[in-house]
Amino acid sequence: MEQLRIPGPTPCPDEVLQAMSRQMINHRGPQFAQILADVTTKLKQLFQTKGDVFLLTGSGTGGLEAAIVNTLSPGDTVLSVSIGVFGERFAAIAEKFGAELIPLRFEWGKAADADAVRQALKAEPKIKAVLVTHNETSTGVTNDLAAISSVVKEFDKLLLVDAISSLGSINLPVDDWHCDVTITGSQKGWMVPPGLAMVSVSQQAWQAHQKARMPRFYWDFAKAKSYLEKGETPWTPVISVVFALSVALDMILKEGLANVFARHAQVGKAAREGVKSLGLPLFAEESHASNTVTAVAAANGLDSKKMLKILREEHQVILAGGQQKLDGKIFRIGHLGWVTESDIEAVISALKIVLPQAGFRSS
Ligand SMILES: Cc1ncc(COP(=O)(O)O)c(C=O)c1O
Repeated sequence: MEQLRIPGPTPCPDEVLQAMSRQMINHRGPQFAQILADVTTKLKQLFQTKGDVFLLTGSGTGGLEAAIVNTLSPGDTVLSVSIGVFGERFAAIAEKFGAELIPLRFEWGKAADADAVRQALKAEPKIKAVLVTHNETSTGVTNDLAAISSVVKEFDKLLLVDAISSLGSINLPVDDWHCDVTITGSQKGWMVPPGLAMVSVSQQAWQAHQKARMPRFYWDFAKAKSYLEKGETPWTPVISVVFALSVALDMILKEGLANVFARHAQVGKAAREGVKSLGLPLFAEESHASNTVTAVAAANGLDSKKMLKILREEHQVILAGGQQKLDGKIFRIGHLGWVTESDIEAVISALKIVLPQAGFRSS
């Protein structure tokens, strides 16, 4: 069987897949209302929030756009903290809708420095919101969101968090860390196919929403809230994925959130140790290495594209390459959601065989 070890979409347990094959139901009827209420309650528990949580039909990027257009107006100044591809994407969305960007970029492979965020906020009092990626999937780095958040709140700014590849796998207590909008996607640690963005909305975000003038229709949080109150979503939801999510959330709650985080920490460590044992360098600084994705530098003559091809064709192991300027320079192992240490051991064993076939010379 194919081993899908990319950082999303991730493999789904059989129970989750079976839930997807259920017959359709009326999305404006009592059965769906019951499921929606139940899923929303459970998601609040997993987001660790008492605020609002909405299911939006769309991919994670739709959730990022929703965060922007619901809280900002054209001309608003936004500090975009970026450590990789997805930080750049969040900023690009804000810019497209007319925000004035102040980019705060860090070298790819490194985490953002909370003190630099403080300096940037001090230097420009007009900043209204800070965009930050919790877990940068393109580089395998997890930012110290607690530290960044406490700086952002020293200045009482809005904090919009891309937690697409971390929430539900790496601890992110949304209320304790004062995240105003937090976005995740079903195809990541949730063990569910793509199709849903899940977002939390704080009181401060609602205050911003009242004044926000960026154009919005499909993503309007006010519509999501008023429909949720009557057990519906404003638009036809991706019902099968909601069925799947309902089953997956029960599995996560049964395992226990702390245990899920501990398992990801263990699996992340196994991936890093395994990679190092092969003589390959980690791309991300280890102090901030992600527990959901490990980025590996293609060093010592390794042709990473050739390696990915042999892994896929001869070992049925699917890993991810590097994105944009990291294309051909790194490869990435996804280890989020339905994953155990033995899955990672299998990846490392396959790598051990394939590396020399793809030009790698151990020094
Ligand atoms: C951190 C991060 N942000 C945003 C996205 C984009 O999500 P989607 O592909 O679901 O639109 C991803 C997906 O890879 C991601 O990992």
